[in-house]
Amino acid sequence: MEQGLDFHAALAALAWQVELGADEAIGEEPVNRFDAVEPVAPRAAATPDFSQNNPAPTVPAADPVAVARAAAVAARTLAELHEAIAGFELCELKKGARNTVFADGNPAARVLILGEAPGREEDLEGRPFVGRAGQLLDRMLAAIGLDRTSPDPAHAVYITNVMPWRPPANRDPSPQEIAMMLPFVERHIALVAPQVLILMGNTPCAAILGRRGILRLRGQWQTALGLPVLPMTHPAYLLRTPSAKREAWADLLDLQAKLRTLP
Ligand code: URA
Repeated sequence: MEQGLDFHAALAALAWQVELGADEAIGEEPVNRFDAVEPVAPRAAATPDFSQNNPAPTVPAADPVAVARAAAVAARTLAELHEAIAGFELCELKKGARNTVFADGNPAARVLILGEAPGREEDLEGRPFVGRAGQLLDRMLAAIGLDRTSPDPAHAVYITNVMPWRPPANRDPSPQEIAMMLPFVERHIALVAPQVLILMGNTPCAAILGRRGILRLRGQWQTALGLPVLPMTHPAYLLRTPSAKREAWADLLDLQAKLRTLP
């Protein structure tokens, strides 16, 4: 243990590392890698051959959005889409994640809930909304007779996220990360073909509506991708702000009323 670090400070430092994603001690002793690194000699640049008036062709960098779009449209089933997302290598978030978190629930459900991104528990388990926010979400849904484990499409929900990989320290996904995953999200929604889409929080509003500001958007039905869409406050926000549960309850009742009007 570092000199002068008491038990509680050491425990807090360790918890912080775990929260950042460190899950393994790789050595007995701490190593200061800034001291340990030998200066690296710059690699000799390849000498260009100007003998012929023929510059080497440059390979254009892949456009992540175009690659994602091609992979997404080629997926004809949810299983193929899962495989396509798991094989998509152009999003940096994948490198830091343990699991590709694809979806949970009943694909025949009338309601599709689109969340933001996996957190720590979801990353460990490989399923969306299984941490504290997910448990609150399950209770909210149960209050209007919906359940992700229901085999009956009328009572079931299907749950997925804009991002299938956990961002480091649960930061918000960047606009670029959202843009490159959007083709997969749109394909996911098209394959499930729900009757109603719920956007849980700002990231799905940014992805599907191109707008942020969930506290203004919540509770207002919109149309997107040919579907009725309801933005709602994220259950993680409700855990931090219990006073907002009243409005979330109103939104849940609104969802229940909407489902009664649909065939
Ligand atoms: N928050 C989300 O938006 N999605 C999850 O899967 C978990 C927490």
